[in-house]
Amino acid sequence: MSSMDALEAIRKRRSVRSYTEQPVSDEDLDEILRLALLAPTGGMAQAWSLIVVRDEDKRRAFGDLIVKGGGEYFRTTRPAPKDATPEEHAEQAIGYAKKVLGSYDEVPVWIAALIVPRQAFPEDQASFERDADMVSIAFAMENLMVAARAKGLATVPTIFHYYVDKELRELLDVPNEVEIPLVSPLGYPTEWPEGLPPRLKEIRRPWRTLVHDDAWGNPRA
Ligand SMILES: Cc1cc2nc3c(=O)[nH]c(=O)nc-3n(C[C@H](O)[C@H](O)[C@H](O)COP(=O)(O)O)c2cc1C
Repeated sequence: MSSMDALEAIRKRRSVRSYTEQPVSDEDLDEILRLALLAPTGGMAQAWSLIVVRDEDKRRAFGDLIVKGGGEYFRTTRPAPKDATPEEHAEQAIGYAKKVLGSYDEVPVWIAALIVPRQAFPEDQASFERDADMVSIAFAMENLMVAARAKGLATVPTIFHYYVDKELRELLDVPNEVEIPLVSPLGYPTEWPEGLPPRLKEIRRPWRTLVHDDAWGNPRA
């Protein structure tokens, strides 16, 4: 399959939350995974792994857990509607998660990004190491998302599993010392969002205000 160039793929990558059931070819998947793991990695530590879930039962269970976690995210981060009981609020939150993430049951591939500590730093610098590992796995996932986009495949960096961490670990047999900082579906989108939704577009800060010339406090307005 043809692919677009990197600049276009970066520009056109969007978080996609609605997927078709169309499978991803082994060839495309392998290439995307390989490109993900070509990302820079602090100290060449490669303190990372990716779990690729394609088994039908497992991917459905994965999708269900993400929806459940999404419900918890919406319940705890969005205000309760006026006069709603806690039960009604929880029900609304999970209902909303099911609505916006309704296709997660059918996503052909789930990717879990892992931090696998390599104990490369002295013990008293463990937090430096964890930060470097987190940055490195984020680079790998960005590579993965951009490579996927170039091939017409969609993703969305997701942390909803933080709310169901124990259950996801059990599903994937991930031991406690290995973190799961990020997961993503991988599949063909029902449609490509043209840009950000208006609500998000409105709050996108002009890039120049986020770039400072030579020192902090000197934005390139
Ligand atoms: C660290 C991180 C965590 C995110 N977690 C979630 C998530 O749990 N669920 C979700 O649907 N989107 C999640 N997103 C996607 C963001 O909402 C999205 O990137 C942002 O709205 C900008 O949209 P875009 O990716 O289409 O540019 C996450 C993004 C990042 C970088």
